[in-house]
Amino acid sequence: MEPSKEFMFKYKGFYFGVNTSAEHVASLENFEIKDSDIFIATYPKSGKNGTVSKEEINLPLFNHLIAAVPKFFFLPANTCNLIRATCPSERQEGSHLTGGAQCLPEAEIIYVTRNPKDVLVSYYHFSKFITTLEEVPDFNIFMERFLAGKVLASSWFDHVAGWYGHAEDFNILFLTYEDMKKDLRSAVLKICNFLGKKLSEEEIESVVRQATFENMKKDPRANYENLPDDIADKSKGRFLRKGTVGDWKNMMTVAQSERFDEALNEKIKTLPIKITWDM
Ligand code: A3P
Repeated sequence: MEPSKEFMFKYKGFYFGVNTSAEHVASLENFEIKDSDIFIATYPKSGKNGTVSKEEINLPLFNHLIAAVPKFFFLPANTCNLIRATCPSERQEGSHLTGGAQCLPEAEIIYVTRNPKDVLVSYYHFSKFITTLEEVPDFNIFMERFLAGKVLASSWFDHVAGWYGHAEDFNILFLTYEDMKKDLRSAVLKICNFLGKKLSEEEIESVVRQATFENMKKDPRANYENLPDDIADKSKGRFLRKGTVGDWKNMMTVAQSERFDEALNEKIKTLPIKITWDM
């Protein structure tokens, strides 16, 4: 079952949502990036949410840090895909977009990965309640699309491999969702160090305290409970769902997990990271 054209379109080999247009994406090729910009890039459902609307932006895990480090730059809708396209892996050379790539070496980029089985499960639930995404009730079909890269942001592997492939070219801090879950304070310190920002002990404590899943769930600035009904059907799910590592085990059957491994494990071995599947 192919993705419905009602929800996605392909541009230069990447899937975009119909809330944008090829013309809009094309216009981003000349997106001006300043040396002082900071980007946070992830594949969807990896612990960061980009632009909700032009005015209202929240970044789970980062939003409280942003309050302390106001220099963060927020990507306009779909620019994550654009930036990803400017950092193609070898095979994606054909889809190279210009503008951004020329400037990116000077910008500071934080790239977050999450284990792809948890990404898949989180993405599946997300698709159920976000009305601009196609709801695919059958998890098997959703998984096959995910493995084939036929979802928004396309292939998880290409996304991660593309960014790690440019580790030496750009100024990138690589973080993992699992490391942040294990030790949020260390992640905050790493980010501050990377950005050359010195926070006081109190500020660090405050960022760490507020950025935990439990606190964000309670915090109206971070929990997305005020998303309008035409964007999120709250009877079908929540943005801050579980926030755990290894939730895929509650969703995937042994057969599904094996199918996933068969499709992705050889590729994953080529990545310069060790995936944490459970904690
Ligand atoms: P789950 O669906 O597994 O709960 P993104 O922001 O990239 O869309 O990622 C969303 C995922 O990150 C969701 O995963 C969400 O609950 C989780 N998340 C968001 N903020 C978090 C936090 N502070 N701690 C742990 N997980 C968080």
